[in-house]
Formats: sequence, C-alpha cells, structure tokens
Amino acid sequence: MSSSEIQFPPGFLWGAATAAYQVEGAAAEDGRTPSIWDTFARVPGAVIGGNHGDVACDHYHRYAADVALMKELNLRAYRFSVAWPRVRPDAGPVNPAGLAFYDRLVDELLGNDIVPWLTLYHWDLPQALEDRGGWTDRDTAHRFVEYSLSVHDALGDRVAAWTTLNEPWCSAFLGHTGGQHAPGRQEGANGLVAAHHLMLAHGMTVQELRRRGVGTDPERPEAGLGITLNFTVADPNDPADPVDVDAARRVDGLFNRVFLDPIFRGSYPADIVADTEGMPVPGRGSWTDVIQDGDLEVISSPIDVLGVNYYNGNAIAGRPHPDELKSNENETGRTTGTPYVGCDDVIFVSRGLPRTAMDWEVQPEGLTRLLVRLKDEYAVPPLYVTENGAAYDDQVFPDGSVHDPERVAFIDAHLRAAHDAMEQGVDLRGFFQWSLLDNYEWAFGYTKRFGIVHVDYDTQVRTPKTSARFYADVAATGRLGS
Ligand code: NOJ
Repeated sequence: MSSSEIQFPPGFLWGAATAAYQVEGAAAEDGRTPSIWDTFARVPGAVIGGNHGDVACDHYHRYAADVALMKELNLRAYRFSVAWPRVRPDAGPVNPAGLAFYDRLVDELLGNDIVPWLTLYHWDLPQALEDRGGWTDRDTAHRFVEYSLSVHDALGDRVAAWTTLNEPWCSAFLGHTGGQHAPGRQEGANGLVAAHHLMLAHGMTVQELRRRGVGTDPERPEAGLGITLNFTVADPNDPADPVDVDAARRVDGLFNRVFLDPIFRGSYPADIVADTEGMPVPGRGSWTDVIQDGDLEVISSPIDVLGVNYYNGNAIAGRPHPDELKSNENETGRTTGTPYVGCDDVIFVSRGLPRTAMDWEVQPEGLTRLLVRLKDEYAVPPLYVTENGAAYDDQVFPDGSVHDPERVAFIDAHLRAAHDAMEQGVDLRGFFQWSLLDNYEWAFGYTKRFGIVHVDYDTQVRTPKTSARFYADVAATGRLGS
C-alpha cells in the first residue's frame, strides 16, 4: 500500500451500495410477485448451487439495523434499488404495501442523516413483463416510465438522487446475448434491441422526472437525475497487432460506447452499427429497425450525474492466446455465449496482475484512465463512482472477526486512483463501495463475497470486516494516510 497522504475535498460523498434482489429477501411478502431473477435462479444450472434471493440478507426486515450500521461506519449515502415487482406486482396497479418498505427505508436513512441514492432498475424485471416480451419489446420501456412515476409519487418529496438504470450492459447483453443473466436468452443481436429499449426507458423517465422538477432545486446539491453504467478499459493485448487492436475496438464499442454515444452524443457508434446491422434478429430485419424517429433525442436528454461502475479493465486479443482468462465463463457448467455481439473470436488475456475471487484482474490505474477519458471524450456531468469493490475469500477468525487485508489494499488503491483522476481535472463527487453487505452475486449465488460487512447467512449476523473500519475512517476524515 502506498504511504503518501491524500485528502479528498470536503463534501465528497462517501457511500456504499446494494441492490434489491441481492439483499432484500422477503420474496413473496406484502404482495411482491416474481421477477426474472426469481425465475432464472430456478433454471437448472443457471446459478451456482441453485441459490436464489428468497431470503438473501433479509434486509427487508433488518433495514433499520442495517441503517444503524451504515451510521456507525460514517457513511453519508446509501445506494439501493427499488424492486419493480414489489411496486407493481405482475406489472399491474401500484401496490402500496410494497412501496411502503421504501418509505420506511428512506425515512430511516434521512433520520440518520444518510442520503438515499435511489436506483429504479437493478435487473429485477417483473416476470409478467418478460412473459409479454421483456426488454426486446418496446412496450416495456413505457411500463418502466409508469412504474418509475409511481415510485416518484411516493418518494419524490424526500429522495433527491434518482438513477434510472444500473448497468444496462448487463441487462441487455448478459441477459439477451450471452445468457449468463436473467432472462437467460442467447439471441445475438437481440441484445442490442434490449439495449435500445433500456436506453429509451431511461430517456423517457429522465424527461418525465425532469418535468416533475427532479434535479432542479439548487438547495439540494446531491440532487439529480442520472444513470449508472459499467465500463471496461479495453486495451489491445498487443498494440502492434491490428487483429488485437480491432478486437479491443469492438469490445470498447459494445461495452462502453454503445451507451455513452447515444446518451452524450445522440447517436450510436458508427463502427458498431456497421459491424452489427446485418446480423439476424428474431422476427426482425436488423436491430436498428427498432430505432424510431426521435428516440435518440429522448435518450440524450440531459442528465445531472453519471454513475461509474468500475471493477477492472481487460487486455484483449483477437485470436487464441495461451494466457486466456476464463473469468467470463459460467462456473455452473451451463452453456452460455459471448455477451459481445458477434465477437466469438475475442479473448481476454491475463496480464499477470493479482486477481480477485471472481478471477478479475486488479487494475486500479484503469479507473484513473477511465475517468479521464470520460472527461476528455464526452460532455459528462459530475461523476460518482457508484460501484467499485472486490470479492475475496475472507477469513473468519474463531473470535468472529473478519480480516480482509486484500480488500483494504484494493479500496486504498482505487481511492488513490480516483484521486489521481481528480487531480487531472475530473469532477468526481463521490464514491460508493460495492457492497455494504456480502450478498447474492447473481449467477455466482452466495459463493462470492463483495461486502465490507460480512454476513453469516445462517444467522444473518453482520460483522464489519477490517475493510469496513478502514473505509469508515476514510469516510470520516476524507483522508487516506500513511
Ligand atoms: C455490478 C452490479 O451492479 C452488482 O449487482 C454486482 O453484484 C457487482 N457488479 C459485482 O459483480
């Protein structure tokens, strides 16, 4: 760990994040109906151990104690998501009992002086909507607006920070191209259809919430409308090899630019359109046929904040390589495909960097480069790192304490990397750890622990890890020191 001392500016927002399906549990309570993840988790081989979110961290019942823990850890903000199937079960009318949970949660947060940072969609589409076509059907975007407005009706008086979508790349491409995530579809370029409808849902919701005044109150500095995107830093494995350079271009296009360009430039990247336009899409000529006049204007509606999720970058080769990383493969043994539309040739190559329990390479300097690139290449609003973190096989000591020195080093290095970007002129306003709690890591079930707080799933006992104490100090002082 570096020993130089650095200081973040006063007011920098220190937080931690979770998502509804990963922590709440209470899957059938107060009128909630199944989401695509409840269904997908029951598909044999889809999730390690057949794990599902029925109980998860039981946050639905333990939210008050969890908020007290946040307070103890000096967190100034809590990033959580609202479960669509609680609010509009079976995609039907509003369910007051489901909304009431978020009402209680928000009041508890505000009562403890913690900013509620609300995400409307963290992957739990009501199964009833998937049955009608899901994100490959344009109507789902309209249903999303309707749902979002019901959440705003209930919480708009108290919540200032509104994020439409979390990581639409995962929803679109892990969900509809690779099939690693719910709904588990492996339909090639249909992932781009889903991406377009997700973006449309985002843009339409931004316009509606703006009309209601979200992000227009100068008295609320942590206010605003935004979206959280996940990014990679796509480096060609051999920069002198045109095959690797082209593979890196495609990954960058299909991961980063396919969302950044429509939001900040009002158009899809020309190279990606050229690469994918001719690919077959079930029931359609081309994925671009779903783009209607005016859609890109809607998608590029101004936003107030951009949420950045960063875990690692990738060295990319365009042909087989002996040091191929297998981290993108599904450990369950279920057959899945590449989530990069039309990129069966692309290989992720190990650079010999240390790896987390996800087998993801630890690459903090990638965060600096990513943030600087966003500033230099796009007209981005203020940035927040809305997720960064690592899964490790933590050691639980006989006295119950949990030691995670690798995570402490990971956090330290990434905060320094974020600070480096700020010194290069990036307007970064806050940082959220993924995650507050160990939780349901999607297709990996409960096998991967990302929390700064350990959860014993048998007893639901929470134990702050060494990293939680470390982060609490940073959150209190804004300082990383020797
Ligand atoms: C991104 C997702 O938003 C979150 O749900 C997930 O658990 C983490 N990354 C770690 O994979």
